[in-house]
Amino acid sequence: MALIFPESFLQEVMDRNDIVDIASRFVSLKRSGGTLKGLCPFHKEKTPSFTVSPDKQLYYCFGCGRGGNIIGFVKDIENLDFVEAVKYLAEQAGMDIPDTNEGGAANNAKLRRTIYKINSLSGRFFYECLHSPEGEEALEYIMRRGISQAAVNRFGLGYAPELNKLLDYLRNQGFTDDEIIESGMAVKNERGDVYDRFRNRLMFPIIDVRKNIIGFGGRVLDDGIPKYLNSPETAAFSKSYNLFGLNLAKSTKDNYLILVEGYMDVISLHQNGIDSAVATLGTALTPQQARIIKRMKPEVIIAYDSDEAGQKATQKAIELLAEEDLTVKVLTMGDGEDPDDYIKKNGVGAFRELVDNAKLQIEYKISKLQEQYNLDIVEDKIKYINELALQFAKIKSPVEREIYVKKVAQETGVSADSIFSEISRLNVISERKSRIDGFKGQPSIGAIRSLNPKKENALRGQRLALSLICSDKRAADLAMENLIESDFDEGLHRELFNLLMGIWRNGHTPDARIIVSQFEDSANVSRILHDDQNIEDKLLAMEELIRFFADERKKRNLLDTLLNKKASQEQTLNTTNKMFEKGGRDQ
Ligand code: GTP
Ligand code: MN
Repeated sequence: MALIFPESFLQEVMDRNDIVDIASRFVSLKRSGGTLKGLCPFHKEKTPSFTVSPDKQLYYCFGCGRGGNIIGFVKDIENLDFVEAVKYLAEQAGMDIPDTNEGGAANNAKLRRTIYKINSLSGRFFYECLHSPEGEEALEYIMRRGISQAAVNRFGLGYAPELNKLLDYLRNQGFTDDEIIESGMAVKNERGDVYDRFRNRLMFPIIDVRKNIIGFGGRVLDDGIPKYLNSPETAAFSKSYNLFGLNLAKSTKDNYLILVEGYMDVISLHQNGIDSAVATLGTALTPQQARIIKRMKPEVIIAYDSDEAGQKATQKAIELLAEEDLTVKVLTMGDGEDPDDYIKKNGVGAFRELVDNAKLQIEYKISKLQEQYNLDIVEDKIKYINELALQFAKIKSPVEREIYVKKVAQETGVSADSIFSEISRLNVISERKSRIDGFKGQPSIGAIRSLNPKKENALRGQRLALSLICSDKRAADLAMENLIESDFDEGLHRELFNLLMGIWRNGHTPDARIIVSQFEDSANVSRILHDDQNIEDKLLAMEELIRFFADERKKRNLLDTLLNKKASQEQTLNTTNKMFEKGGRDQ
């Protein structure tokens, strides 16, 4: 949602209200360690799983999975929309509410225009810096990455120089500090100092379809963190409603858009004449973005990184895009590659072939399942068919469904009728289940642990580390020296880690309420940030965790070595088998 209230107003609303006060009106809260607990007001329960953190000003229910900051709580409990919830809290605190009706909308439009102006001047400033002696290193980096001068111009790439050069420039152009802060180009710390948000970064303007610069992404030139820093949500910029490259891709003659993960992928594809590429803005694809794509083209080709994270994200994106009735295809590359790497290695012709041969999403899913199961083993075959039936149950067109059922029947030797009856059984179960369970669809911790005990342990360690980093400076310092992004193995965990590190590094203290509000899945982030509530000695806990992470790293290396060994053994075995097969046939 585009922002209706200025950021400073929201901050004040949150500062002037205490989540413990508000929640206590609906729940009787009892202290348990560092947390307050009570019976969840959002679902029926007999033992308390609703928790409130007074320090972080967050809530989370371990029963139903709801969570967030105080605005989210009021929204959910009073059934209000965002604006109404903010007004409610402002009234509670006796604050004057900015007029959000006509007057407010006009103010908002005016602020938005000011931000466009600031952004446009900043974009030009960055571009000029890139081509001045100061930008030498950045320009070298650009050339090393194979970006052409034409692409630099088309995308308006630039360089953000050292501290406060942009701020000084914008002040000289007559903008007030408040305006510059509202635009996201500068930040203000607790002491009231104002300074540039972006420094020493390669800058990517984010441009909407009307050609306004709505925000920026900035990449480090080395391997510092965070790798990318984006403009915050402002009156002019909302990450979930925009796509990088859409300003150019909207004129493509292709009948589809290609969805990639990174800014660099978009640039590399466009530079090579593939002008239908767009990327999300450093977050997972949102339903709003899926709708934007749908408005533009009937088909989308997902070309995410081929690593595990990319493949996971692909599955999620498929669901969202299929929901919009888009034709969804998936393009797959070799090991650990993204489109940028792929084109550099194999040329754009090879990439075009991948585009032409992209698989329909259902076929992509079938081939993923085939990789997972060995159809010569009976149990595997049953599981394979069951999982496929689950996918087929979602296909809306009966004709399409029949085609795939027949294909699989032929391939497995199981009759099409059996597969059809499995599909209708699943449909019945899922209807019944959704009626009984309501929103209690999450697997229990026990179930997760029985699937993968070590993984769950590792994830717990990661969550605890993140919440310690959020609440304790000494713990964060320790983490800064000893932990790296790859210690965290979920996208969300990594994002949080980078974000928190970036905040400390820039001399700020993280504000959990704001952090939560920056993520689509704010409930989950709230849960993570609750983890250290009962820990008294946060520094000691972090020290222990660092040992734990070091162990995990060792284990992972060991596992990799073992897997490699196993793979090479299997390869030898395969060759031997083939030799025998051959021998058999020849006889
Ligand atoms: P290169 O590593 O330079 O090739 O960039 P990339 O665009 O391929 O980036 P990568 O595959 O690592 O990440 C994909 C996208 O995720 C990026 O383009 C960013 O939008 C986003 N992203 C990556 N790292 C960060 C980060 O540290 N913070 C934020 N906010 N976003 C990130
Ligand atoms: Mn890349």
